[in-house]
Formats: sequence, structure tokens, C-alpha cells
Amino acid sequence: MSRPRILSGMRPTGALHLGNYMGALDNWVALQDRYECFFSIVDWHSLTTDYADPSAIRENVIEVAIDWLAAGIDPARSTVFVQSLVPQHAELHLLLSMIVPVPWLERVPTYKEQQQNITEKDLSTYGFLGYPVLQTADIIVYKADAVPVGEDQAPHIELAREIVRRFNHFYGEVFPEPQTLLTEAKRIPGTDGRKMSKSYGNAIYLKDDPETVKQKLRPMLTDPARKRRTDPGDPEVCPVFDLHRAFSPEATREWAASGCRTAGIGCLDCKSRLAEHMLERLAGIHARRPELAARPDTVFDILLEGSKRARAVAEATLEEVRQAMKIRYDRP
Ligand code: TRP
Ligand code: SF4
Repeated sequence: MSRPRILSGMRPTGALHLGNYMGALDNWVALQDRYECFFSIVDWHSLTTDYADPSAIRENVIEVAIDWLAAGIDPARSTVFVQSLVPQHAELHLLLSMIVPVPWLERVPTYKEQQQNITEKDLSTYGFLGYPVLQTADIIVYKADAVPVGEDQAPHIELAREIVRRFNHFYGEVFPEPQTLLTEAKRIPGTDGRKMSKSYGNAIYLKDDPETVKQKLRPMLTDPARKRRTDPGDPEVCPVFDLHRAFSPEATREWAASGCRTAGIGCLDCKSRLAEHMLERLAGIHARRPELAARPDTVFDILLEGSKRARAVAEATLEEVRQAMKIRYDRP
């Protein structure tokens, strides 16, 4: 009895923070029990925006892999690999590019959005336009049944289904349509109250040790109405409370909310309780990570081994694709 297969990917942006963890990674770890999982560090996708200076990508790949393994991605059960070590993704991307109408890509919401938001880079490239085609290749080269992603990625998976339908229409039923496995989005603010992000300098990282986590929480932005200990506050407008929602049990959330509204507790009390629950949740990661970080060679071997496994699966699909597209040259 084979389990349904999922694939997901992350760009190698470097050390992962709690936003990445609660938004994706933690969910992937849980999915390993029910699915056959392929998890890819998509370095080519990083090149679509960082082509002018790719110097950080290699280091970031290892950093991400360390965080994945520390978080509980289990290479004995899941295939953990680097996209560029499986060149079949590129071949399939090229073949798909022949059948994908350019307007489909121009309509993808992230395309215009990113072009407008990221003004310091020239994103008018062919490769950036093709980002979702490469993502489609990532998914369907494993004939994945489903893709766990956040809301922002849903249009990309929808496009992948459209591309699959077009492919199957032209060349016969080769690919299943991948389903979207929506990851429920929790709001994970950074220490300044904005969305947690590496580029804002407001992030708590999986690699931060417990003392660093506490130090970062202590000055975190709270409800500005609580200037003094005696001023009541409103947890609904406090980013610390968003973190309680993500990390603390019901009883603590109630304690914090009512203590806040009545000025029965101070913000430092509130934060130190949060720190306790957060650190409980991260205890496994804190226990596993130092050893992995000290052995990058072992982590590298895991990626090489996973990539080899991925290649075998991807190559079997490509054989079928070449056959279906009449572009296979077996010796007569
Ligand atoms: N585009 C995804 C992101 O930015 C990363 C990604 C690349 C991906 N290929 C994928 C996610 C395949 C899911 C499946 O988050
Ligand atoms: Fe925020 Fe807690 Fe302070 Fe209320 S008591 S403002 S929820 S940190």
C-alpha cells in the first residue's frame, strides 16, 4: 500500500526563522507520517531573483538543510534534495515551456506584485517569468498528488494543474493534477510587530539559542497603550499575543488576555511566559541543531543521497515524457 506523494520546496534564503517554521516546516514534519514526501531546496528558483549575485546560495542551501533536519525532517523517510542536483527538473521545465502560453504567466499575481515590490532588481527576465513553470516541473516530475503550501502559493499550484491538463491533452495522460494542501496561516510577527522577515531584522531564528530567544522577546513591541504597568492593554492589537496564539496553550492565552485587559500582569510577565512555551516547542530543535551544524559534511551527504533518489524517480518520469512527446531516441 503506497502512501500518496507530496512535494514541496523552499528557496535557500539562509537560516530559517519562526515564520518559516510555523508557516511550513512544522507542517512538513507532521506530513511525513501520512505521505511519501519529497522536499526540495530550490536553488534555481533563487537564481530567478538573485542571478546578479549568487554568492550566498551554496552556503544557504546547507543552512536550510541543517534547519530542516533539526526540525525533524527525516531523511530515512523523506527524500530531501537540491533542485539543481536533479537536472530532470530543468529538462521538464524546458519541455513545458513549449506549451505554456505567455499570458498564463503574466496573469500570475506574484509576477506583477514581485516586479513592483522588488525595485532594486531587474525582474524583467525570461527566467523570472518562467518561475511558476519551473515550480510546476518540480512538482509533476515526481507525479506528486499534493503540494503543501501557504495561501500565497495557491495560484502557482492552480497554474500547475492548468499546465498538466494542457500537457495531458496534447500528449496523453502522463501526469496527475496536483492538489493544493493549504497550510493554515498563523500570523507570526517579528519583534517589531511587522511580519517576521529576514530582511526586516526582526526575526527569531531556529538557530538562536534559548538565551538569544529570550533576549529578542524582552524588548518586543507590545500594545503601545500600555505605557505604564498600570495601563490596561488590548491583546488583539499586540504582536506578542499573536505569538501566544501560535505557541501557548489555551490556559496561558486566557491568563495573558485577561491579565492584559485588567493590567493584572505586566508585559514582561507576559513575554516570559511566552518564552517558556516557545522554548518548550523548540526544545527538540535546540537539542538537535548544534550537532548538525557541527557536521555540515554529513548534512551534505544526506542531500547528495536524497538527490540521487530524486533523480531516479525524476528520470523515470522523463522517460515517459520523452516518449509521449515523441522525443525519445532508443537505439533501433
Ligand atoms: N515558490 C515557492 C515559494 O516561494 C517555492 C517552491 C519552488 C515550491 N518549487 C516548489 C513550493 C514546488 C512547492 C512546490 O515558497
Ligand atoms: Fe501584549 Fe501581553 Fe503586554 Fe498585553 S500584557 S500588551 S498581550 S505583551
